[in-house]
Amino acid sequence: NGEMRKWYGAVHEVYSPVCIPTEKGLKRKLIGSYPICTTVEAMESLEAAFAAYSNGCGEWPTMDVAGRIACVEKFMQMMLEKRSLVVKLIMWEIGKSYADSIKEFDRTAEYIYATIDALKDIDRDSSRFKIEQGIVAQIRRSPLGVVLCMGPFNYPLNETFTTLIPALIMGNTILFKPPKYGTLLHYPLFEAFRECFPKGVVNIVYGRGNTIVPDLMKSGKINVLALIGSSKVANELKKLHPKVNRLRAILGLDAKNASIVTQHADLKLAVKESILGSLSFNGQRCTALKILFIQRNIVDKFLELFVEEISKLKIGMPWESGVSITPLPELHKPEFLVDMIKDAKKHGAKVVNSHGGEVAESLFFPAVVYPVTSSMRLYHEEQFGPIVPVVAYDSLSEPIKFLIESTHGQQVSFFSNDAHEIASVLDHIVNQVSRVNINTQCQRGPDTFPFTGRKDSAEGTLSVVDALRSFSIRSVVATKL
Ligand code: G3H
Repeated sequence: NGEMRKWYGAVHEVYSPVCIPTEKGLKRKLIGSYPICTTVEAMESLEAAFAAYSNGCGEWPTMDVAGRIACVEKFMQMMLEKRSLVVKLIMWEIGKSYADSIKEFDRTAEYIYATIDALKDIDRDSSRFKIEQGIVAQIRRSPLGVVLCMGPFNYPLNETFTTLIPALIMGNTILFKPPKYGTLLHYPLFEAFRECFPKGVVNIVYGRGNTIVPDLMKSGKINVLALIGSSKVANELKKLHPKVNRLRAILGLDAKNASIVTQHADLKLAVKESILGSLSFNGQRCTALKILFIQRNIVDKFLELFVEEISKLKIGMPWESGVSITPLPELHKPEFLVDMIKDAKKHGAKVVNSHGGEVAESLFFPAVVYPVTSSMRLYHEEQFGPIVPVVAYDSLSEPIKFLIESTHGQQVSFFSNDAHEIASVLDHIVNQVSRVNINTQCQRGPDTFPFTGRKDSAEGTLSVVDALRSFSIRSVVATKL
């Protein structure tokens, strides 16, 4: 509610994934701490957001579009002034390379400016009048209420702000719970939110999601759940809302994006794009390539080139120039990844690159696992880390079957230079996912493209115009002539 609270309760100490030498050897570096709020403070924040919305009659939801844009523009000025601090915090908190941390900040700023432009267009459209059957109508876009925003650790700024900003600029009020890994970087920005928006419009609550968020949902005062994270958590939270039919959910969830490489592909290009797609930011991207299907007659050649290129990747600290593989923020992750490799080995696969799967403190060396089959966890489960499962296929019906049977449906990459082959496969795969990438890796960008998924991968659509629509409802003011 625009107040900074003194905190006397428990705190969470934030350790960077980056390790530093200590008397007991290399240990994660302590970089800060944040309060672990209880349900009491979380509910107070919710009440502040609820009061600021005031059933749609608050200062913010009734402010005209120009006024809301002016507030967001002022916020942007302050955000840009804090660029170097926020970039450093992204790097230290989640171990993202310095270059990628800068990219994350800059694309977020571009997204916000694109959102402002899109809102101006939508507003111009809404101010046009329609006349039909003797009725003149103005079609407005109105906010929905209180939006609970929760983003993931891998894009702690970008993924959060691509829901929070469109929700905010449409006139909704916000309750934001930052991710466990990726919280500190939001502190400087919340000072800016406090200065640029009316009291109670943007509220942040630090703490443990699994203790405070269920109570927020049970209150029935959340109108929109905007969550980028796991489908398991999203489903559990949705069920807690007392009137689930009144809850709108905008969700970006799990994915198991496949790459399909045929004998007609440009092999070098397929190798380059598959490495970028599967190992950028250690494979910790919802859009990462998480399984590669390679036609059997080219699999040996593909693996030879793939493994050779992976051996050239620089593994190291996030500030090093040209670094590709950096420390993993999630404490349990190395163990989880090692278990997945063990399971694959038990069922007959091998790690085919040297040092693949080795762990050194929080660094995990990328592992190429082959031959992966449907009896292995790596075939079905999302690894969200630097493991690349490779499957050899004889007929294209095999990867297509994988896509049809998968519970996920975000993206697929298809590598071939045969136009006839591409055309014949496209019809089968385009209805399984929300984006097909021909001769290129899977990715979200450009961020102005619609971003969604089928099956368990998403609900609602994000990205600029789609996000503005997702966080609003069209209402009609009709006047009889
Ligand atoms: O983790 C999901 C991100 O939105 C992915 O964005 O494809 O640009 O890495 P990206």
